[in-house]
Amino acid sequence: MARISMDRLRSFSNNASEYLNELQNALNKPHPSKTAPNFSTAAVSELCGIARTQFRYLAGKHHLSIGHKPAGAKSRELTLPETISWIQTIADKPRRNIEAGQLGRVLAVCNYKGGVAKTSTAVSMAQALTLRGLKVLLVDCDAQGSASLLLGFNPETDIDHEKTTILPFIHGDSESLAPAVRTTYWHNLDVIPGCSAILTAEFLLPAKAMTDRDYRFWEVIKNGIDPLRKEYDCIIFDTPPSLGHVTLNVMFAADGLIMPCTPDKLDFTSSVQFWSVFNDLAALFPGAEKKAYDFVTIIPTKVEPKDGHRLTKTWMQEAYGEFMNAIEIPHSAAANMALTQDRTIYDFSKPVNSPESHRRYKDPMNHLADYLLRQLETGWASSTKPTGVSE
Ligand SMILES: Nc1ncnc2c1ncn2[C@@H]1O[C@H](COP(=O)(O)OP(=O)(O)OP(=O)(O)O)[C@@H](O)[C@H]1O
Ligand SMILES: [Mg+2]
Repeated sequence: MARISMDRLRSFSNNASEYLNELQNALNKPHPSKTAPNFSTAAVSELCGIARTQFRYLAGKHHLSIGHKPAGAKSRELTLPETISWIQTIADKPRRNIEAGQLGRVLAVCNYKGGVAKTSTAVSMAQALTLRGLKVLLVDCDAQGSASLLLGFNPETDIDHEKTTILPFIHGDSESLAPAVRTTYWHNLDVIPGCSAILTAEFLLPAKAMTDRDYRFWEVIKNGIDPLRKEYDCIIFDTPPSLGHVTLNVMFAADGLIMPCTPDKLDFTSSVQFWSVFNDLAALFPGAEKKAYDFVTIIPTKVEPKDGHRLTKTWMQEAYGEFMNAIEIPHSAAANMALTQDRTIYDFSKPVNSPESHRRYKDPMNHLADYLLRQLETGWASSTKPTGVSE
């Protein structure tokens, strides 16, 4: 058999890229880009924690939208911005006290194991937190650009890596990460996209450290994101499946660490290694011992009702103790089907397949968002204290 030359390799790679671009465009049809779902009055009432019978009365009292009936539909629907306006006015949810100077909190979703649901958790939580009234920024630090794709950007064609990724800031071309922010189709959810070019950051950071001995290469992203804490209640970082310079930076920028971990023996082993390597590396950085987190949590993801998963969960529980979250995200055909269409479960106003399977996945995701909101509330309250002061 003929050996495969670099030319042939390039040609097969180009073919695959072209095919994927066409597929991406086809998946986005009939719309040129993603659109947010609408919400029934029942869904809005549920999100606001009110009885459906109160809907009309509260709409009149607070001048809120009662929605509109799409042609041929039986019941009224509200747009996402209308729904969020309802939630912000009516729902009894924790709020950041901006007047008191409270700042947004930074959350990092990390694990160097691939495919454990980091990106789907990061994007779903960003969406779910906007449905609790928050303004959220998602930073895609993964060169795969999966989070950007879920937020409606084709990483290889829609993103100008010289402007709207973490790269220009790391190059030193901007004072903060603020100029890289883009709005998305989802109200109150902005993004700093990722694409393959951001891999360069893995090389730039150590290269700069070699030439400048005072360059604190592990605090670059922290310095870039801190100015955005005034504008956003929550900033979520999606990280690559590695513990390189970028992930380290994100972990030093974060107030909360979320590790999705599938309860397979190899995944569990790798997660233990991840924490150990992180601690060893952190010990090398001057001043790192002052770092403190609001919370660190390990979430079992893609959990199946099989003996192997049950057994590994008990090991994880024993190893991680209080750091192991009680919420678990099941392996779900609904999640998989949604993600195959570049969507999360929150993008659908109707069940993706069966209502039971939809709920079985969405309920724990909602519980996770409620858990994060409680952590954020505590974090906001402590954010007016000088940094480095732990409780
Ligand atoms: N709860 C779930 N049930 C079934 N499949 C899931 C679930 N969550 C995620 N998946 C599938 O697992 C795969 C990986 O998900 P995702 O991209 O979120 O993981 P990741 O950790 O970000 O991956 P990577 O390490 O490559 O960045 C996807 O194909 C997705 O459809
Ligand atoms: Mg990912």
